[in-house]
Amino acid sequence: MTPGNKSRIALFTSAIAALAGLLLGYDTGSISGALGFIADAFSLDIVGKGTVISIVLVGGILGALINGILADRLGSNLMVQGAALIFVAGAAASALSPSAVALLASRFVLGLALGAVSASAPLYIAEISPASDRGRLVTLFQLAITIGILLGYFVDRTLTSSGYWRLMLGTSAVPALILLFGMFILPHSPRWLIKMGRYGEAKDVLLKTCGGDTSLADAELNEIRKVISMESKGGLADMLRPPVSSALVTGIGLFLVQQFVGINTVMYYAPSLFREAGMKSPDTAILATVSVGVVNVLATFIAVWLIDRVGRKPLLYAGLGGMLIALTAIGGIFAVGSSDGGIGIGRATVFAVWFYIACFAFSMGPVPWIVMTEIFPLNVRGRAVSIATMSSWGANLIVSFSFLPLFEAAGAAFTYWLYAVVSLLGIVFVWRLVPETKGMSLEKIEERLLSEKG
Ligand code: BGC
Repeated sequence: MTPGNKSRIALFTSAIAALAGLLLGYDTGSISGALGFIADAFSLDIVGKGTVISIVLVGGILGALINGILADRLGSNLMVQGAALIFVAGAAASALSPSAVALLASRFVLGLALGAVSASAPLYIAEISPASDRGRLVTLFQLAITIGILLGYFVDRTLTSSGYWRLMLGTSAVPALILLFGMFILPHSPRWLIKMGRYGEAKDVLLKTCGGDTSLADAELNEIRKVISMESKGGLADMLRPPVSSALVTGIGLFLVQQFVGINTVMYYAPSLFREAGMKSPDTAILATVSVGVVNVLATFIAVWLIDRVGRKPLLYAGLGGMLIALTAIGGIFAVGSSDGGIGIGRATVFAVWFYIACFAFSMGPVPWIVMTEIFPLNVRGRAVSIATMSSWGANLIVSFSFLPLFEAAGAAFTYWLYAVVSLLGIVFVWRLVPETKGMSLEKIEERLLSEKG
């Protein structure tokens, strides 16, 4: 097998697992369009509408927790399969819901699946990838999230005239089925197999990912076994001690910054944001929203291109710096001129939001997913990754709930300036607490971690 074949295998495997991101993004992108029809069908008030959106986030927190309990025992491949199966059931049940309560229950189940898959799919990709390409392969997960969001917008636009909200919700079962069958034919992660003592199977997988080179596969197998022999048992106490506790601070902190820069206020409320800035026609607002989705997808390719070349930290600095400028500008635009509602204000807001989204897409979008799979020792990796993911879902919930009241009480300018302050704090956080992991094997990262803090 040639190196070309080797990277094609890693790419194919990662692309299948990355479909999990599509499920995540599709719900974010499609639910706001379906919401109006759902509210009409079940006579929902504002609280009911908010619950339809946020119940998925609550499920996500719990799903990530369940993943944490099971992942180290079952491995990330089986976890993704289980979550995909539950997702299919949840999507079908939401599409067929006879009542508001049934819809909320099925969206909670969807959330459980999304929570589990958002921890297990990036981890699976990282554990099966060669060190030199790991960053860009895990970025495929984020790329799939952004494509899912855009797909959700498009399906909404296509179905809006007919009002087929059940189809908007049910469509996501299709990629979930592909994910399920895809993961079924893909192997387990070699690292998990070695941890479980299944060396023969691990060697077979490593042979494939090493392009058939027996000595390379043996060297990787021995390296992973060596690191495992240096580890402690991986009990709860280990989670509370360095190096795991400090890695947890890094993983959780990155996700808090990812959510508290306000990304999903733009994803969920983009039309209202543009209307607030003076773009009154509903068509202009929808177009602006779709353009946000397109910029999000395109700018993610910058990360695919650069993440393994320049590293994780330079992208984080550039992205957070850009977001700081964009958010300050958005706040400024609202402070100066939202009352006159002129077209100029609308355009300036659209440009600032595009710039903000682009900066997020190549930095705080993919990097937390990548770094969380890299910084934990193998013995607790499944659990620790799940805790980091839980913080992402929890922070997403807090931001979604607080955005509208904050917007009403303190005004648009203050709200976006607050998110700007988070970007600034994020830069300091990255500088002090995020290690550079570009090009290092997971075992090298772990050895460094164990020797520094053990
Ligand atoms: C975040 C999501 C967000 C998406 C936007 C992801 O990395 O976790 O909350 O909606 O990026 O592209």
